[in-house]
Amino acid sequence: MSGDSKRITVIPGDGIGPEVIEPALAVLDVLALGVRLDVLDQVNAETYLSTGSALSPADLDRIRTSEATLLGAVGDPRLGDTAYVRSVLTTLRSELDLYANYRPVRLWHDRLSPLRDDTRRAIDCVIVRENTEGLYSGVGGSTRTGSPQEIAIDVDLNTHHGVSRILDFAFSVARRSVCVVDKANAVRNGGQLWQRCWHEAVERHPQFDTSHLYVDAAAMKLVTDPTAFDVIVTNNSYGDILSDLTAALAGGLGVAASANLNPATRQGLFEPVHGSAPDIAGTGIANPFAAILSAALLIEHLGHAEEADAVRRAVAAAVEAGRVTPDLGGSLSTKEVGAVVLAELRQPN
Ligand code: NAI
Ligand code: MG
Repeated sequence: MSGDSKRITVIPGDGIGPEVIEPALAVLDVLALGVRLDVLDQVNAETYLSTGSALSPADLDRIRTSEATLLGAVGDPRLGDTAYVRSVLTTLRSELDLYANYRPVRLWHDRLSPLRDDTRRAIDCVIVRENTEGLYSGVGGSTRTGSPQEIAIDVDLNTHHGVSRILDFAFSVARRSVCVVDKANAVRNGGQLWQRCWHEAVERHPQFDTSHLYVDAAAMKLVTDPTAFDVIVTNNSYGDILSDLTAALAGGLGVAASANLNPATRQGLFEPVHGSAPDIAGTGIANPFAAILSAALLIEHLGHAEEADAVRRAVAAAVEAGRVTPDLGGSLSTKEVGAVVLAELRQPN
C-alpha cells in the first residue's frame, strides 16, 4: 500500500487550528488508509508577520500536486485587517479554482438544536455555496475615501459559466431535491442570469424535485422548517450567511465542516467552517468535531465512503453520550474528545 500512497497536504494554521487538526490527523492515522501527510507548518501568521507572505509558490505547488488538503484555520488578532486571511484562503480558492463550497449540516442529536422539542428535527442538508464570484470577487473600489462624500462600490460579479457549473454541482450531490436561493426580485441583472441558468440546469436534471426561494424567505424557512431541505444552492455571500445560520441550528461552529471543491480537476480543500478562535486558543477546549468531520469529507473524496461513515458514526456516538466540549454542553477537552472518537473507531464492527 505504501508504494502508491496518496499525499495529503495539511495546513494546521493559527489559534485553535493546530489544536483541532491534531485529533483529525489521529483519525486519519487510525483508519490506516495509506495516506502520507505533508504538513505545511510554516503557513501561518508568524510567517506572514516576518516575511509578508504566508503561502509561497513552493507551498502552492505542494498543495496543487497533492491528492487533497486539510486546513485547520487561519487568522491572528495581531493582524487586524483581513489581508492575511485572504492571502491564504482566497489565494487557495482562486489558484485551485475551488468553485464549489460544500457545507453539509446534520443535527447529530436533538439536544444540540435550538429547535429542540418533542418532535425530532432531522436536519440533514447541504449548502452549496458558489466560491469564486459574487460580491466577494474583489472587484470594486472607492473614491473620496474618508470624506463625507465617500462612495464605495463592490461589484456582484456573476458569469454564465460560474453560475451554470455551481448549479450542476448542486444537482450532482443532491439526494432528493435542490432549492436555488437568490434575490432576483431586487438584484435584477445577476438575478436574471441565475434564473436563466437555473431553468437550463433544471432541464438537464429532470429527476429531482426543485424549488426557488428568495434569500430572506429562505432564511425564515431554514428556521421554521429546516427538514424541508436537501440541497440549497446559492451565491457566495448568501451561501456564507445561510450556512452559518444552518450550522447554528445544528449545534454551532464546533460541528460545521466544509469542502472547497473543483469536480473537474478533483482538487479539494477541506476545512472546518470556523476560524482560529483567538478567544479560546490555548485553553484546550476547542471542539474538534468540525475538523474531524472535514477530515471525513476528505476521506470520502478519496473514495473511502465507508470509513467516512464510520467517522460520522463515531462523532454521533460521542454526542449521544454527552462526551463533548463545553460549546456543546459537555466538559471534555479537545484531546479527550479526540480520544473518545478514536476509541469509537477502534471498536469492532
Ligand atoms: P471564529 O470562528 O474563529 O470564532 C467565532 C466564535 O466561535 C468564537 O467565540 C469561538 O470561540 C467560537 N468557536 C469557533 N470554533 C470553535 C470550536 N471549534 N470550538 C468551540 N468554539 C469555537 O471566528 P472569528 O472570531 O470571527 O475569527 C477569528 C479569526 O479567524 C479571524 O482572524 C478571522 O479572520 C479568522 N477566520 C478564519 C477562517 C478560516 O480559516 N477558514 C474562517 C473564519 C474566520
Ligand atoms: Mg462565514
